[in-house]
Amino acid sequence: MIIREAKFLMSNSRVEQCPAPTLPEYAFIGRSNVGKSSLINMLTGHKGLAKTSSLPGKTQLINHFLINNEWYLVDLPGYGYAKVSKEARVKWGRMINYYLHKRENLACVFVLLDSRHPPQAVDLDFMETLGSGGIPFVMVFTKADKLSGSRAQQNVVDYLRKMEETWDEVPRHFITSAEEKLGREEVLGFIEEVNR
Ligand code: GTP
Ligand code: MG
Repeated sequence: MIIREAKFLMSNSRVEQCPAPTLPEYAFIGRSNVGKSSLINMLTGHKGLAKTSSLPGKTQLINHFLINNEWYLVDLPGYGYAKVSKEARVKWGRMINYYLHKRENLACVFVLLDSRHPPQAVDLDFMETLGSGGIPFVMVFTKADKLSGSRAQQNVVDYLRKMEETWDEVPRHFITSAEEKLGREEVLGFIEEVNR
């Protein structure tokens, strides 16, 4: 898919104030600092489109981007960041949950997983929640440039094994690096497929 245009539309804390649900929407979610905003910039080819930071907790709202006037990309706050106050965590958790369950044009959720780490309970639990809510998702492994190939591969294999334990059909997965623009065609191709 060719990205002709990518523009920031708005930030919200409420689903009711999000853009009209008339176009297919893809939301990026995962632990704080996993690389959601960086991946959005890599996919769209616009470096500063989504705000990134080396400090976790940068993205705090539901951010809508309009791509090619045809579909929405959504950057969400991360979950599981211990240094944010409990109050803020509960608030974000509620906001994200409500968004995921109420947003009627949500075509697919991209669950980002850091390929440097073995399977994490918080991520497995989150995917379980999506599954039981009937919310479609795929797995996106990030930061594949950070580890030697075999170590990252092992983490991916371990994740897929873990998923097989509880899922009849394990959702699709992609391996990406925002740094090296790895996985771009695959992810955009998938979106194009779902949009059809
Ligand atoms: P929050 O908004 O805080 O939840 O974080 P996020 O998931 O949006 O992460 P963000 O994109 O801001 O990236 C976090 C840090 O990881 C930044 O320092 C990025 O430069 C770095 N990073 C993101 N993707 C990659 C990648 O593919 N490779 C490498 N080496 N670093 C990455
Ligand atoms: Mg972010």
